[in-house]
Amino acid sequence: MTHPPADPSLPALLQRMPKAELHIHIEGSLEPELIFRLAERNGVKLAYPSVEALRAAYAFTDLQSFLDIYYAGASVLLKEADFFEMAWAYFERAAADNVVHAELFFDPQTHTDRGVPIEAVIVGLTHACRRAHAEFGISAKLILCFLRHLSEEAAFATLEAALPYREHFIGVGLDSSERGHPPEKFSRVFARARELGLHVVAHAGEEGPAAYIETALDDLKVQRIDHGVRCVESPALVRRLAASRVPLTVCPLSNVKLCVFPTLAAHTLPQLLAAGLCVTINSDDPAYFGGYINTNFVETFAALPQLGRAHARQLALNSFEASFVDVAHKARWRAQLDAVIPADA
Ligand code: ADE
Ligand code: ZN
Repeated sequence: MTHPPADPSLPALLQRMPKAELHIHIEGSLEPELIFRLAERNGVKLAYPSVEALRAAYAFTDLQSFLDIYYAGASVLLKEADFFEMAWAYFERAAADNVVHAELFFDPQTHTDRGVPIEAVIVGLTHACRRAHAEFGISAKLILCFLRHLSEEAAFATLEAALPYREHFIGVGLDSSERGHPPEKFSRVFARARELGLHVVAHAGEEGPAAYIETALDDLKVQRIDHGVRCVESPALVRRLAASRVPLTVCPLSNVKLCVFPTLAAHTLPQLLAAGLCVTINSDDPAYFGGYINTNFVETFAALPQLGRAHARQLALNSFEASFVDVAHKARWRAQLDAVIPADA
């Protein structure tokens, strides 16, 4: 298929347009420099001698090879101030990328299992969210993720431990090693979360099969699927996702780094958009995968010349539609988007 010549103004538009980020693991924003600084401050011994050696280890073959390094990196986080600093560093980058709203995943079990009080995690992150709103006007919310390689019982204990801080997070999610840990393992804890009025999302169909997307929808009753790119293996599921507009929070650079797709040019994002799915672009673990949200947008559009400014506008609109905010906020961001990319783009 031939495509019109590349639009030279597109990268600047992608960067300038307002957008919501809905799939960012805040522990995945921990840059090597900050890992080393916190390790020294907290007396934590790292397996790598230098920032450069650590960065050189970021060559992943699959999800698990990444998670092993990601959990080791998170081991430097001990105090409330550490969680604040990590999230604040992310918000500075998000503001520069014109993120107007961010829903941050955090993994309490990664920290509580090392003896860190859940209070230090949630309070540190909450302070950064409040300051991001005050200084940058970013509306920032937290989503507590359960580690799916651990038991349902451990997920229940984590939810109960977090309840004193209930007003500080808006939802629960499910992340970590996907294969062999289907969503339905967590049906009861997700039912409890829904009873508590929490939003519910889950990683599914990143490395795991399309069937995991179906059980996330049917058993966990999730409102969004994180990744979900393997839905293309089931045409019926693609039709269901298009009809329901259940969003997929797609992370293109992550998918290439974790070998879900061989290259960005091979990514199925254009097909998902063409099929009418509510897909969004996100960074996942930007410190590990080569870039924050704007880098994801710019590199994805550069690799897929069939994507133009109408797709850019649609992706920004999808990010607002998929966010857990009221209609007034969504309308305000749509008006801001109109000023950058008008509806007839
Ligand atoms: N935790 C952090 N990043 C993740 C990913 N891409 N998939 C599953 N769990 C994760
Ligand atoms: Zn993720």
